[in-house]
Amino acid sequence: MNLKLKIWRQKNANDKGKMVDYNINDVSPDMSFLEMLDVLNEQLITGGDEPVAFDHDCREGICGMCSLYINGEAHGPDRGVTTCQLHMRKFKDGDTIYIEPFRAKAFPVIKDLVVDRSSFDRIQLAGGFISVNTSGNTQDANAIPINKDSADKAFDAATCIGCGACVASCKNSSAMLFVSAKVSQYALLPQGEVEAVDRVLNMVKQMDEEGFGNCTNTGACEVECPKGISLENIARMNSEFLKASLKG
Ligand code: SF4
Ligand code: FES
Repeated sequence: MNLKLKIWRQKNANDKGKMVDYNINDVSPDMSFLEMLDVLNEQLITGGDEPVAFDHDCREGICGMCSLYINGEAHGPDRGVTTCQLHMRKFKDGDTIYIEPFRAKAFPVIKDLVVDRSSFDRIQLAGGFISVNTSGNTQDANAIPINKDSADKAFDAATCIGCGACVASCKNSSAMLFVSAKVSQYALLPQGEVEAVDRVLNMVKQMDEEGFGNCTNTGACEVECPKGISLENIARMNSEFLKASLKG
């Protein structure tokens, strides 16, 4: 396939940035989207130009690092996949592909397609954990009976990889789907009960301080989430927040 790429180039956080056109030929439909960008970068380096900066690590849908906005959709046109799992067979010969970074006030662009998502880390640090004694007295997790429905829902919530596609897809740049997944994975389990009040209050406070917008139930986040995180988690977080506010 021969393709035309329109890619956001931005030298650093202070640069204004602009879309730049590139042509790339002989792209195999079996390549992943990131492999196609690797080939483009080889081409740029060979020609003495600066390669396009983009984030990636595992390249198998686990780490949540790859974060491209492709033809107006977070992680591109496929469903239930991250950018690194998107394949070029989803495009046609002669296509023009627009590639931009995830855009949100709380995700400032560092360079080209790389954004700073440390706001997510700070939300996690505010309460996305349980305090467990690991000094040799750790209880076997299976010693605590948990009903299957709660265990399954907690597992589903825990599959959130923190990629930020929910924020990038939301007209309000809301992080509610991400935060609610992190709150839910503990709220559904007995291990999460002890710190439940502080967890939800502190995580929501940090989310607001980072400059994410509010949820207005549009649902774009759920559609674009590569892990199928359900809006049900947002309802659960709202209920946890209300309960915690009344107790606090
Ligand atoms: S909720 Fe989905 S889209 Fe949002 S960070 Fe988690 S995996 Fe990514
Ligand atoms: S590079 Fe790890 S999820 Fe895409």
